[in-house]
Amino acid sequence: MLSRQIASKLLNYETPFYLYDIDLLRRTLESLVYESEKYGYKVHYAIKANYDDHILGVIREYGLGIDCASGNEIRKALELGFDPKGIVYAGVGKRDKELHYAIERNILAINCESIEELHVIDAFSAECGRCTDVALRINPDIDPKTNHCIDTGQADSKFGISYEEVLEHVEDIKSLKNINIIGLHLHIGSQIRELHVFENMCDKVNVIVANLASLGFDLRFVDVGGGLGINYDVPENEPIPNFASLFSIVQKHLDVGSREVHFEFGRSIVGECGELITRVLFNKTTATGRKLLIVDASMTELVRPAMYGSYHNIENITSQESAMEKYTVVGTACESTDVFDENVSLRKSRRGDLLTIKSAGAYGMSMASRYNLHDLPSAVYSDKL
Ligand SMILES: Cc1ncc(COP(=O)(O)O)c(C=O)c1O
Repeated sequence: MLSRQIASKLLNYETPFYLYDIDLLRRTLESLVYESEKYGYKVHYAIKANYDDHILGVIREYGLGIDCASGNEIRKALELGFDPKGIVYAGVGKRDKELHYAIERNILAINCESIEELHVIDAFSAECGRCTDVALRINPDIDPKTNHCIDTGQADSKFGISYEEVLEHVEDIKSLKNINIIGLHLHIGSQIRELHVFENMCDKVNVIVANLASLGFDLRFVDVGGGLGINYDVPENEPIPNFASLFSIVQKHLDVGSREVHFEFGRSIVGECGELITRVLFNKTTATGRKLLIVDASMTELVRPAMYGSYHNIENITSQESAMEKYTVVGTACESTDVFDENVSLRKSRRGDLLTIKSAGAYGMSMASRYNLHDLPSAVYSDKL
């Protein structure tokens, strides 16, 4: 854990801030590229996980495409030099101006999430005399065995088009002359640690691709989304996620002929390279005897615990005490759910100590808000120290 190694240096920085281990990010990308090239898989980085310019610059060096969820994410990717033909754009509710922007930028594909959206893209494309490449985002109805707040591919989810609905509209879809259906897309959820779930996904994809091909759809690629989980419990044990295992499962179970296979990873690329560094402000004990450790970060810098009940491992990186204490670590925001964790075992902690909240590189800074008019947290990069 980088913060532990350089703790004394970090004492001088204004907290809270994100600390990024760029060497770990590079090693993660090297592993990802090495493992994906074995099978010729194409990888898009899900920019929503972290759109920090410096991090994106490093990711670009490794030749990844980008998975976007908004017009502004597409704009950011293009501004930072990513190839439009490596950009895919998903989202259940794309606004008109975002669709126009994506159509005009000639990206790899708009991942379309409803029959109505297909019609709108067709109409917008006709207006500007274009034929837009589109992938059908299908909802495969798979339980990804993850936190319910971050599953996205079950029958009742808002994401994707149900396969049955696609079948009902085959002729309707084929009649749209200003879109080209070139791919199939799905994303079943995030933080998936039970990799056998991906076997079920492959089995379903095989059937869907074969059926769509027999119905006359000429699919060039199959994009199976992201979702590979990271080790929030003990990140030190697994700083680089197991891309090799996931790819070998997909290689064994996915049967889509010569079509390209694409992935869209967010968390597994940047999750472990970021830590949120925060300072202890106060100690206090509630009337019920609960020991609170009040830190200067809050749900405005890292909302995942408050929003999803997500776990992040916390450690005091500057205390010299050998005695351990159990704390409830709470933030500064005016919300009762602004709790990072309860019953956390830490070295006895005092005002001024630094804590690290680990594995915060994904969906941390990108979800930060200015609630309570907090400043957005700054970033410290290992390669600029
Ligand atoms: C469509 C899509 N693709 C990819 C991702 C990235 O997922 P992960 O960060 O779990 O790899 C997400 C995350 O929400 C998503 O919605």
